Amino acid sequence: LGMIQERTGTFFLDNPAAQFNLRTHMNSRDLKTAIEKITQRGGLSNAGRAISYVTKNFFSKANGNRGGAPNVAVVIVDGWPTDKVEEASRFARESGINIFFITIEGATENEKQYVTEPNFSNKAVCRTNGFYSLNVQSWFSLHKTVQPLVKRVCDTDRLACSKTCLNSADIGFVIDGSSSVGTGNFRTVLQFVANLSKEFEISDTDTRIGAVQYTYEQRLEFGFDDYNTKSDILNAIKRVGYWSGGTSTGAAINYALEQLFKKSKPNKRKLMILITDGRSYDDVRIPAMVAHHKGVITYAIGVAWAAQDELEVIATHPANDHSFFVDEFDHLYKFVPKVIQSICTEFNSQPRN
Ligand SMILES: *[C@@H]1O[C@H](CO)[C@@H](O)[C@H](O)[C@H]1NC(C)=O
Ligand SMILES: *[C@@H]1O[C@H](CO)[C@@H](O)[C@H](O)[C@H]1NC(C)=O
Repeated sequence: LGMIQERTGTFFLDNPAAQFNLRTHMNSRDLKTAIEKITQRGGLSNAGRAISYVTKNFFSKANGNRGGAPNVAVVIVDGWPTDKVEEASRFARESGINIFFITIEGATENEKQYVTEPNFSNKAVCRTNGFYSLNVQSWFSLHKTVQPLVKRVCDTDRLACSKTCLNSADIGFVIDGSSSVGTGNFRTVLQFVANLSKEFEISDTDTRIGAVQYTYEQRLEFGFDDYNTKSDILNAIKRVGYWSGGTSTGAAINYALEQLFKKSKPNKRKLMILITDGRSYDDVRIPAMVAHHKGVITYAIGVAWAAQDELEVIATHPANDHSFFVDEFDHLYKFVPKVIQSICTEFNSQPRN
């Protein structure tokens, strides 16, 4: 039942082609009939190509994928794959797909010389802790994997690869609204915040977004719980009114920790993206240390008159990856892909076990 609820699709490994997709069959009876009608295609066992195909096409919204439901691919290989799986599998993991790998009648000692990647199973699975791989000695015992597999797939809390750099953060923007910014440039900053936000998958269970504006004072524009769709977030960003005043960046960081990140969920990565155009009137060193200590990954983006040394103090270590200096507001747009790339590189470099 769980499998059916997750919706099921299937395809073959040689030249991948979908036999049916996630929206073709809506009940288990139709699904069963469709499975029985599948004919064997023969050919090679290009699991790498099949995994690439699944990553690129299968889990698209158009093909019936639903946000919020974990994406699971069960790859069944007889013997061993004839192509490489490592690169394709990494891409799948980064796209939030939990790969289970079932190997049936794997290579014997003297067959191992033919295997392109001897450690293919570990390279292919979502995590190498054993949860995602099942080895079956012979085709006759394949049925014994059904129960354990279903049990694991339904244990959604353990499906660690559901998380990606785009769907698992609480992101707090801390926006400098001081007088030196000016009305026009402030709009550009809001566009920048909107363009960054657009890149993420937003919902109450995926990435959430909040924003603080500051001068000498601070105000919460909206918190993580206030909106949970992308269009609501984009509208809320548009509605932020320019405040104008001084620049107390240190106090703003403290305020964001209290008002935004205190309400962050424990299973979310906490990201603070601070945008400023000048040197702070107050100390940033201690507030930044507190933020880092609390596990808030801090990005500092400085425009025009911002002080690079201060950006580096605010930013999480290594500062090179977390601080950006932009000479003018009109060039901010170029930093959208750079910031996203940095966020995703850091996420994807976390250990896989
Ligand atoms: C197989 O891969 C896993 C995970 O990548 C690694 O920990 C292990 O050492 C590898 N084993 C061999 C024999 O290369
Ligand atoms: C935001 O995106 C729009 C549309 O792609 C682009 O025209 C604009 O220059 C971007 N602005 C910023 C500040 O990123």
